[in-house]
Amino acid sequence: MMRIDIISVIPALMHSFFEHSICKRASDAGLVNIVFHDLHDFSLKKHRQVDDYPFGGGAGMVMAIEPLSRCLDQLLAEQMYDEVIFFTPDGQLLKQGLANQLSLNANMIFICGHYKGIDERVRDKYVTREVSIGDYVLSGGELAAAVTADAIIRLLPGALGDESSALTDSFQDGLLAPPVYTRPSEFNGQSVPEVLLSGHDRNIDAWRHEQSVLRTQKRRPDLLS
Ligand code: 6GU
Repeated sequence: MMRIDIISVIPALMHSFFEHSICKRASDAGLVNIVFHDLHDFSLKKHRQVDDYPFGGGAGMVMAIEPLSRCLDQLLAEQMYDEVIFFTPDGQLLKQGLANQLSLNANMIFICGHYKGIDERVRDKYVTREVSIGDYVLSGGELAAAVTADAIIRLLPGALGDESSALTDSFQDGLLAPPVYTRPSEFNGQSVPEVLLSGHDRNIDAWRHEQSVLRTQKRRPDLLS
């Protein structure tokens, strides 16, 4: 079973996300175990404080080294981890290929950044990879961690109802997905492309591939180069 430990100052932000949909189904099926850790539980300060002022001055607070290293040392003593991933806007951009790669791991630790970031010494000592989900700034790494976990978990064998459906996702072949239709075949004057009603599998596959290429050329030419 895959295990993902998520270290956060607001773990509640992610609770409901993982209690629904495919992530919930994957947990119930024993494909993944998500373990939340509230960083405040690892603080030895009076008010469970986890941040402090930056050396050298400037605006904003920094996530302190002690609670993070205490939490990480405890986890690393308990089991082996394939990756310790820190979520930060200056990390590696999350793409489908990275989600595919991470889905092969057994145990991972996700650290959600907050404030102005974490003490650089945590990155130097523990972090094996830094991930960003896009070129915009979120108020914390929690949503990025949830997005990344979702992209990984839906790839686990058995997580999706139809085993093959992850293979036909957008991006898995470097192309956007083709248009899809369902019943009725005729609705208020709009009809479904004839080929999809033909029952001719080879023609349908060819049409879908052509539509994928056209859509990718039009919307995301960067994916084709
Ligand atoms: Cl991983 N963290 C934050 N705070 N903002 C982000 C991000 C991560 N990825 C994109 N924006």
